[in-house]
Amino acid sequence: MTRSPKASGTPTLGAFTAGQLVRLCDVAGLGASDAEVYARILLEALGPAAARPLDLAPPSASFLSDDHTPVEFSLAFQPDAPPTLRVLLEPGAGAGGPAESGRAGLRFLRAMAHRWHFATDRLDELEDLFLPSSPQGAFALWCALELRPGGVPKVKVYLNPAASGQNRSAETVREALRRLGHRRAYKTLPSADRHLFFALDLGDWEEPRVKVYLAHQDLTAAEASGLSRVGGRAEQAEIQAFFRTATGYDAGDERGAGPARRPVQSCHAFTGTADGRASGFTLYVPVRDYVRHDGDALERAVSVLGDHGVDAGPLAAAVAAVTSRRPQDGTGLVAYLALAHQRGRPPRVTVYLSSEAYRVRPPAGTSRERVPVAG
Ligand code: TRP
Repeated sequence: MTRSPKASGTPTLGAFTAGQLVRLCDVAGLGASDAEVYARILLEALGPAAARPLDLAPPSASFLSDDHTPVEFSLAFQPDAPPTLRVLLEPGAGAGGPAESGRAGLRFLRAMAHRWHFATDRLDELEDLFLPSSPQGAFALWCALELRPGGVPKVKVYLNPAASGQNRSAETVREALRRLGHRRAYKTLPSADRHLFFALDLGDWEEPRVKVYLAHQDLTAAEASGLSRVGGRAEQAEIQAFFRTATGYDAGDERGAGPARRPVQSCHAFTGTADGRASGFTLYVPVRDYVRHDGDALERAVSVLGDHGVDAGPLAAAVAAVTSRRPQDGTGLVAYLALAHQRGRPPRVTVYLSSEAYRVRPPAGTSRERVPVAG
């Protein structure tokens, strides 16, 4: 399955990303038969785009990753357990504009729901808000799969609050929360610069969540920890330490994003509807915009993992599963670092790894056009 070359010698998008996925499954302790099932699902999600040789342009200008690969991997780490592998996808990338992409996404999700016997009613209730006939914005529907042993993934769907207009995104999020029974949730959200994503857990979850993602320009560490409505002082201190390490800002008063840097993001998860309080908080640092190259980004990832008592060995193995280039030869392999607090659970550190199927961004301060992608 790894990079089965076409006659031209160029792998296809599907073969390249499925190869990465299969190698990552091994790192995450998944067996070969699970890996094979998950690779097939990845190809199914990509649809016709899977067969595109990588020497053609990306199937669409997908906003999912910097080089427009419609696939991104992430590993969620907790102490004393192998990391959990997840894959974020744009189903039917290249199907056309956002309307076609949204429809392809819905078709894929419904096929998965049928196969694994889960309901999509919560998503169906929101269709007019997020998937109108001509949706606006940078994407319509993404899907993430959490790859568990057994070949049945947990499924998450990501929708665009700007689908019914950027100027209506706050109202869209408020209305979506209301329809799902979270009547008081909107008021508990911190102020932010933008609503980025609205996400739902679908399928077999103990406590399916509804999640709202917000962008925050120019944060300090203290402001970042102040965004959380989950946990107490200990968690706040962890968030501040994480923010400083991930951004590379040591001084407490230095701001975490200039105009040229992607904003730090927060995610607020809601489960029970009783009190409107969030049950989960995650802070995302787009570390690729805060480093010279991936050597720095990986150092920071290792340091954050160490702070949380997690062995960084699997991270090195995951990097080797995704690319054979040296970390210092590019920026953006490590797209995000995240710290998640969920009520009643130990904190989780998440590392997002780009596929870089199409392009490697050169290290900061170099003018080299392109680092060749191995393979
Ligand atoms: N590529 C987009 C970004 O960097 C969206 C995205 C992909 C994203 N993976 C993510 C956002 C993980 C937050 C966390 O913003």
